[in-house]
Amino acid sequence: MKKVLVTGGTGYIGSHTVVELQQKGFEVLIVDNLSNSNIEVLDNIAKITGTKPYFENFDLSSEALTADFFSRHHDLAGIVHFAAFKAVGESMQKPLSYYRNNIQSLINIMDNMKKYEIRNLVFSSSCTVYGQPDVLPVTESAPIKKAWSPYGNTKQMCEEIIEFTSNATAINAIALRYFNPIGAHASALIGELPLGVPNNLIPFITQTAIGKRECLSVFGDDYDTPDGTAVRDYLHVVDLAKAHVVAINRLAGEKNKKKMEIFNLGTGNGYSVLQVIEAFERINNVKLNYKIVARRPGDIEKVWADTSFANEELGWKAEIGLDEMMRTAWIWEKHLAGKA
Ligand code: NAD
Ligand code: WQD
Repeated sequence: MKKVLVTGGTGYIGSHTVVELQQKGFEVLIVDNLSNSNIEVLDNIAKITGTKPYFENFDLSSEALTADFFSRHHDLAGIVHFAAFKAVGESMQKPLSYYRNNIQSLINIMDNMKKYEIRNLVFSSSCTVYGQPDVLPVTESAPIKKAWSPYGNTKQMCEEIIEFTSNATAINAIALRYFNPIGAHASALIGELPLGVPNNLIPFITQTAIGKRECLSVFGDDYDTPDGTAVRDYLHVVDLAKAHVVAINRLAGEKNKKKMEIFNLGTGNGYSVLQVIEAFERINNVKLNYKIVARRPGDIEKVWADTSFANEELGWKAEIGLDEMMRTAWIWEKHLAGKA
């Protein structure tokens, strides 16, 4: 059985990826310091797949702890590296903790990959590297815009670190630029666990619908979009998780065409905030309390992916539509509230 290390594997995207990897026959090891996730995720993964993954709780930004882990576990077909801080707003307040956590963890991992000849790395990047693209849909060759937040900057820097290091070592890498992952596993056993007041649209919608928040603020209706609200490429987290299995298999099967490859992962469709709200209300038969307010500083107007490279080269295509994303997000929220 091929062994894969998933860092951040109890987190939102990581947990869904662990499920898909196990269901495709991989043995999965998880490292997570539970800074933004919960130990119970392991039992819930086991309820879905029948196998509780091996787990260690430590901080990957510690050089000593990471070295100790790899001294005991280095017989790995690959590593999927999710572990990072991801809140854009928080990164503006605490830039150094974002640089330390996101950059240092990657360096520690790659150091040990080099040392133990672990060749395959899949990295979580983000469409945030494009900023507001000049041309839509955005392709992987679009210029990288100056980062607006320390978080976005860490993704740009990590991509560069991976590119230079893969060129200088035996490491092969795939960076996956996610657009907006949403929704939850159909079992309602795993999903997103936002701490405090959510920044992202979908947890804010579901928390408003369940009564945890009074009203959703729609940030701006004066954008140059069909209904004036901002447009994003939302994709279901299970579709996204499946792309990681494809990426690991591509690297393990030596099918990659470059030392480092980069793929956009989205559906290729852009939806406005009002379209998302309409889909949520219709599919779940729930009325949402919302109001239009001013634009959120730093938000871009519109972005959606050109997915043709991922479709053709990886043979991966997002299959789940917006209605199902909204349905599973709502079931997950009700599950959290003990109502489902
Ligand atoms: P998440 O916060 O749910 O998962 C990240 C996990 O990493 C958490 O469980 C956290 O406890 C762990 N972690 C963080 N720092 C760690 C460290 N130093 N050592 C050990 N564990 C650590 O986030 P997610 O939404 O699942 O995102 C996963 C990855 O995808 C991140 O790299 C994120 O930047 C990237 N990404 C996310 C989105 C999104 O919208 N969710 C979009 C693009 C890219
Ligand atoms: C989506 C749309 C908001 C909340 C962020 C990160 C990005 C990436 C994905 C990691 C926007 C609007 C939101 C609300 C609203 N993450 N909105 N009311 O901004 O596309 O991207 O997550 O890499 O780096 O910046 O996602 O879910 O915050 O917002 O009207 O209460 O919903 O203005 O148009 P975003 P989001």
